Amino acid sequence: MVNEWRIVDEYVADRLIAPAEMQSATLDANKHAGLPAIDVSAPQGKLLHLLALSIGARRILEVGTLGGYSTIWLARALEAGGKVVTIEFDPRHAEVARENIAREGLSDRVDLRVGAALDMLPKIEAEGLGPFDLSFIDADKANNAAYFAFALKLSRPGALIVVDNVVRDGTVADPQTTDDGGLGARKLFDLVAAEPRVTATAVQTVGSKGWDGFLIARVKS
Ligand code: SAH
Ligand code: DHB
Ligand code: MG
Repeated sequence: MVNEWRIVDEYVADRLIAPAEMQSATLDANKHAGLPAIDVSAPQGKLLHLLALSIGARRILEVGTLGGYSTIWLARALEAGGKVVTIEFDPRHAEVARENIAREGLSDRVDLRVGAALDMLPKIEAEGLGPFDLSFIDADKANNAAYFAFALKLSRPGALIVVDNVVRDGTVADPQTTDDGGLGARKLFDLVAAEPRVTATAVQTVGSKGWDGFLIARVKS
């Protein structure tokens, strides 16, 4: 099925996403550098962009930069003076991201931090870079619940927290799953279900990245 799903992603992009929005240079650079092709799809990137635009986000937190593809979609939604703070563990990924962000003319809007997210998040808090209007969590799936808890702590009332890869081929709904992603997602759902400060949903997605989904939570005002 993934081939049919890909064709529909291409159709959507062809109709609704302008060539200048597509970031082909970023994807080419990532491929050339040997980065894994696990960025969000173009329709998903545009969804992140639209969410950020809708809430007039000025401060965005991202966990998991890779080559900066999703970072760029988010940064393009910012007005002058806005910032995306994005955390990446792998210095090689971060270097490629830095070049991609510079090529798009967005270096002034992106603050890229290199390190493990659980080490960097307390620093970001201490520096007072929040509160954030929107957080996008897309790093190592086992830590999703911990990242969510931190993002919540750094969010303003009314903020959105979006978590990628919460379905993982349906393993999320299997209590017996041994899949790292499925287990990480289940921990996240347990946390969100018991968290009275947010209201949330999750939406399954199919497309060029297979069968997966986003969890979207809004911090209550
Ligand atoms: N958001 C990106 C894709 C991120 S892929 C996009 O859509 O374009 C996940 C990234 O998280 C990888 O680059 C990986 O190196 C990074 N990562 C993995 N573990 C991490 C950790 N503990 N802290 C920060 N980043 C991590
Ligand atoms: C993987 C990570 C992602 O963030 C993603 O969107 C798809 C796959 C992975 O690590 O396999
Ligand atoms: Mg992802």
